[in-house]
Amino acid sequence: MSNEISLTGIKPSGTPHIGNYLGMISPALELAKEYQALYFIADYHALTTVKDRVTLKRLTYDVAASWLALGLDPNNVIFYRQSDIPEVMELTWILACFTSKGLLNRAHAYKAAVEENLERGFSADEGINSGLFFYPALMAADILLFDTNYVPVGLDQKQHIEIARDIAQAINSNYGEVLTLPEAVIREDVRTIPGLDGRKMSKSYENVIPMFAPSKQLRKSVMRIVTDSRQPDEPKDPETDNVFAIYKHFAQPEDVERVRQRYLEGGLAYSQIKNDLYELLETEFAEAREQYGQFMEDWDYLEQVLLQGAEKARKISQPKIAKVRKALGID
Ligand code: TRP
Repeated sequence: MSNEISLTGIKPSGTPHIGNYLGMISPALELAKEYQALYFIADYHALTTVKDRVTLKRLTYDVAASWLALGLDPNNVIFYRQSDIPEVMELTWILACFTSKGLLNRAHAYKAAVEENLERGFSADEGINSGLFFYPALMAADILLFDTNYVPVGLDQKQHIEIARDIAQAINSNYGEVLTLPEAVIREDVRTIPGLDGRKMSKSYENVIPMFAPSKQLRKSVMRIVTDSRQPDEPKDPETDNVFAIYKHFAQPEDVERVRQRYLEGGLAYSQIKNDLYELLETEFAEAREQYGQFMEDWDYLEQVLLQGAEKARKISQPKIAKVRKALGID
């Protein structure tokens, strides 16, 4: 195992779905085999949108329960809550002083919010809080505070990692090698997992297959995946079919090949492959679902796991912020 660091943050904005699982959770958990891995719940990031205290708390525990259920081992990795690490905030301000405002103006999420305002005939910054604007600087602090080498993320986060690099470079070119330049790790093969309607699976489209739904609901979701209207005996295109696009990530390689052939030859009904997919998902997630349920009934335990994680994380973040302050002349 190398002593390089892999780190990723999870915004607590809902129970993860199988798109999250394939695109981000499973690859992130894999990296723990190779690197010193840190995972944290980005509750300060969530605060840019979640303004209800009960909801934010519940979502935080929901994410903790989900990751633990899916195999995150808190004894082997460092698993904490962002807001338990005060050094993150300290570094955020320091970074902000080296972040050109123009760079943040160009960040996708902010730009999209501005564009939407303008399209609706509102003023550019209508309803946009400064936390949303500073989001990338906070994220850079999350990453740079731990000398992170690799950041497993979905494609939508790529720009944020580039911004973190830019900021680190700005500091380093002024003070010498103070910060480590991070690299994004993005799984190309799972770039886009289609949702029920064929668009990218995303909570905002309400087209997700939830991982921890009870069997009946899971089955119902799978049966709702949109297909074309080809009859069972007609040949079908595995490359464009939404069911196959998900199936291929869960089935054994030899089954994927066999099913691909049956698509091309005809004779396979969509209802049949949906049923196979449902059974695969059921096998894959039944145990995690059970554990998730148990964790959600024991918030005290989750709290304790997160606090222990924070203690471990601060063993890294405290000396790091001291080093940064020293470099800047704030010591
Ligand atoms: N912005 C990320 C998301 O929405 C969450 C996040 C916050 C993050 N801080 C991070 C991811 C640091 C990686 C590294 O998914």
